[in-house]
Amino acid sequence: MRVLITGGAKALGRAFSEVLGAQGHQLIITGRDERALDTAAAELRAKGVYVEAHVADLADPNATPKLIESLGVDVLVNNGALGGPVGPTWEVDETDWWRTFEVNLRGTAFAANAAIRTMTSGRIINVVSNAGVHRWPYVTAYSVSKAAVIKLTENLAIELKRRPIAVLSYDPGMVDVGLMRRGRTMSDGSADEQRVAEWARSQRASGRFTPVEQSAGLLVRIVSGEFDHRSGELITAQDG
Ligand SMILES: NC(=O)c1ccc[n+]([C@@H]2O[C@H](COP(=O)([O-])OP(=O)(O)OC[C@H]3O[C@@H](n4cnc5c(N)ncnc54)[C@H](OP(=O)(O)O)[C@@H]3O)[C@@H](O)[C@H]2O)c1
Repeated sequence: MRVLITGGAKALGRAFSEVLGAQGHQLIITGRDERALDTAAAELRAKGVYVEAHVADLADPNATPKLIESLGVDVLVNNGALGGPVGPTWEVDETDWWRTFEVNLRGTAFAANAAIRTMTSGRIINVVSNAGVHRWPYVTAYSVSKAAVIKLTENLAIELKRRPIAVLSYDPGMVDVGLMRRGRTMSDGSADEQRVAEWARSQRASGRFTPVEQSAGLLVRIVSGEFDHRSGELITAQDG
């Protein structure tokens, strides 16, 4: 299958690219960082994976949709996201707060729309977070944007129930890469950032992290269609 993974060159997205490539899927990876995309593409190709890499900023409402419409995909993995600003909601920079929604919610929604308009069948997997189910005080733009994506998924699934297109939310669990690794290893920053870092360290110490191989392994099963009968739902690491 042709699988487009936004943010597919780095961290969790890169782990997803590795396992999906190993399964023989054709990959299209996107992101803002051209160098990271080129490096990831070269490393994947060296393992025999078919991969195309394209710069596409999710903050640009047209970039990813245009790619999807011109390249065609069977599966869209909406993985790219911003962690957003950290601090009391009324104190953080409001432009940063809102930009998080432009990337995490509008970027995800418009990519999904383009996939739905061009696919005859397939699936859309929106990577979300427990922070969108529960709360993540001091990281509200991230938490609220992920909550909105979970609701978007539920609504799209109903609108698509007469078409063979599944839409699922996937919470990969807290993994020791990307956002959570940066969070837990942060040694400076504001008092609020330190509080979030301490929380991340405590979560890891109490065994609440999910091994990245497990997160990526479950994603492969979702991409294969195993969870299509649960379209609209949130799939979590526990479903593995
Ligand atoms: N790490 C965790 O423990 C964890 C837990 C729950 C959920 N998640 C979810 O998993 C996904 C990946 O998280 P991560 O930890 O790997 O985060 P990360 O290290 O911050 O990576 C984010 C990815 O998104 C891309 N991205 C960010 N802004 C973008 C933009 N404007 N346009 C295009 N691409 C953009 C980045 O690529 P460029 O820099 O090239 O743009 C990068 O590949 C996110 O949806 C996150 O919410 C992660």
